[in-house]
Amino acid sequence: MSTTNPAVRYSRGAIILHWLIAILIIGNFVGAWVSEDLPRDQEVVVMGYHKATGVVILLLTLVRIGWRLFNNPPALVDTLKSWEVALAKVTHALFYALMLIVPLAGLGLHSAFGKGKPVSLFGLVDFPALPVGSDKPTIGLFHDLHEVTATAMLVLLGIHVLAALKHQFLDRDGTLARMSPFGR
Ligand code: HEM
Ligand code: HEM
Repeated sequence: MSTTNPAVRYSRGAIILHWLIAILIIGNFVGAWVSEDLPRDQEVVVMGYHKATGVVILLLTLVRIGWRLFNNPPALVDTLKSWEVALAKVTHALFYALMLIVPLAGLGLHSAFGKGKPVSLFGLVDFPALPVGSDKPTIGLFHDLHEVTATAMLVLLGIHVLAALKHQFLDRDGTLARMSPFGR
């Protein structure tokens, strides 16, 4: 069967996890940006959701990587040029790495700043802090790591979305349909 056939789709589990994590990540960016302009008491509430959602993203990413190890994705569309194949593979691998590093750096920052206080997951359950120091250099390290890796993730998202739009509207090769939650 030709891999250009849009029917060659990711599995239902991979599609659900892809979109769930994507929505949560985008929501977490918006939350972080919005919180900057809020009065202190509201900022604390929004950042509480930011941290809890970030931990959920981390846990879902572990499920996603586990799923990926046991379920091979469909072969890439066979009309892709070699540079497109290379870019797709690098982008996807970097995404998986950043989906772990960004929330871990955030958790490190929270742990260092909060002196080991756990993260409350929406008031339901506590998630343990990382065993890190709470000195200024450690706080600074995790702060910079969180900021730089989140920025890298945003750049990657831009490339990823542009690629999806190029395949959808210029190449018309059914790439988006492979990951679409709508359809069989
Ligand atoms: C932060 C948000 C997102 C993250 C972290 C993300 C991550 C990923 C990853 C890691 C893959 C590779 C899946 C694998 O082979 O294991 C993938 C595939 C894909 N993503 Fe995203 N994605 C995001 C948002 C989006 C958005 C907004 C779109 C559409 C506009 C999109 C469209 C696609 C498509 C079409 C594929 C399949 C590519 C193929 O055929 O191989 N993604 N995404
Ligand atoms: C994929 C998940 C996450 C994304 C995309 C993300 C993204 C961001 C962004 C864009 C900022 C603003 C950066 C800045 O200008 O300093 C930020 C700040 C912050 N994030 Fe996250 N974050 C995530 C997960 C987490 C987690 C899991 C925690 C803690 C448990 C966390 C804790 C923080 C804290 C404490 C700040 C404030 C930093 C400051 O004000 O200096 N984040 N995050």
